[in-house]
Amino acid sequence: MNAYSIIDKKKKGIELSENEIMEFIEGYTFGTIPDYQMSAFLMAVYFSGMTDRELKVLTCVMRDTGYIADLSGINGIKVDKHSTGGVGDKTTLVVGPVVAACGGKVAKMSGRGLGFTGGTIDKLESIPGFNTEIDEKTFFDIVNRVGVSVIGQSKDIALADKKMYALRDVTATVDSIPLIASSIMSKKLASGSDRIVLDVTVGSGAFMKDEEHARELASKMVAIGNMAGKKTIAILSNMGVPLGRAVGNNLEVIEAIDTLKGNGPEDFNKIVKTFSSYMLTISDVCKSIGDAEYRVGEAIKSGKALEVFKEMVRLQGGDISYIDDPGKFTKASCIYEVKADKDGFVTSMDTEMIGRISGMLGAGREKLDSVIDGSAGIIVCKKTGDRVENGETLAVLHTNKKEEIPRAEEAYRNAIVIGGSRVEPVPEILGIIE
Ligand code: URA
Repeated sequence: MNAYSIIDKKKKGIELSENEIMEFIEGYTFGTIPDYQMSAFLMAVYFSGMTDRELKVLTCVMRDTGYIADLSGINGIKVDKHSTGGVGDKTTLVVGPVVAACGGKVAKMSGRGLGFTGGTIDKLESIPGFNTEIDEKTFFDIVNRVGVSVIGQSKDIALADKKMYALRDVTATVDSIPLIASSIMSKKLASGSDRIVLDVTVGSGAFMKDEEHARELASKMVAIGNMAGKKTIAILSNMGVPLGRAVGNNLEVIEAIDTLKGNGPEDFNKIVKTFSSYMLTISDVCKSIGDAEYRVGEAIKSGKALEVFKEMVRLQGGDISYIDDPGKFTKASCIYEVKADKDGFVTSMDTEMIGRISGMLGAGREKLDSVIDGSAGIIVCKKTGDRVENGETLAVLHTNKKEEIPRAEEAYRNAIVIGGSRVEPVPEILGIIE
């Protein structure tokens, strides 16, 4: 194989053969192709794109470079949900138990947060004792018993992606539709579920800042999933504002528990209802979205979804007294209110920046091995479309790093725009791609 000629072909926009893609990706993963050639290849893909055929081959080759989960030890149709990332996104914590309470099976492998986005595993680990590294047998037993279990993604999954993603991070090639689609779908296809519901986020707190690109990414991922034999749909959701009110690990777990108790914020309730309903219909548990929405509502109203969540937490070693009494979660030593300095309406928010501020307060990781502070984060009190009066609280910052408050406050003020006239908030759901 001649790595140079493959890079050159891609640079000129010529379609690569299956063999060329396979040899290049395997060569890089197993050490015969160096970082500098892969960097050039990634940049060539960034500018020249990929045909649907190349994209499918790339994704399957990436999937096959690592461990492929076999979930046949779990009864029934397994459904997965995956978000392309956001701020305040605690959806899995709620939809997993809701879907399970309605009869679905969710055997979920999740990731940790990096950069401005949070990760489900970090959130679950803020429940004292919760173990995200249980063995396969326990994982299967829990899903068979309660319908849901969430564990950390196997370190051996899609090894090519692990190396390629790290390189993309430092070569300005993360925001490429074919590279994001193949990265996410290689891991989803390897995770073993039968059906996949993708949450493709759009807006200032998402990788895809505009709807047109988000739709294109969603269509590519749906096509890859279906071509690989896994029924897949994508839901475009608004990430122009943080999801719900809470950003940061303990704060988000508390909001997830409130939502399971029927007291969630309106936008998050809508997201939970939509995602749970599509997960239930795609896995043939419900016949129609209307039927699914009714059952989702009942699962929350009756307390069944909350019971499922508690049972999952208990079986994974977590202390369920925190679910009964979320007041037990550790609070940050410094809780500071950012107040409005004028009257008006919130007209836009830089949601990525709000995620970064949460990280600055201690909730995020700068490096893979950084330790996060579970109690740090932000409660967002005013969102786009809301009326604000001078002196009203815009947000509450939670941190153990008091010295960060002035910088965080200034950044928060810069992240939200207060104007003279009201703008209509963007709906939570922007479209469904089947
Ligand atoms: N998440 C991934 O797993 N990969 C990407 O490329 C972007 C988001």
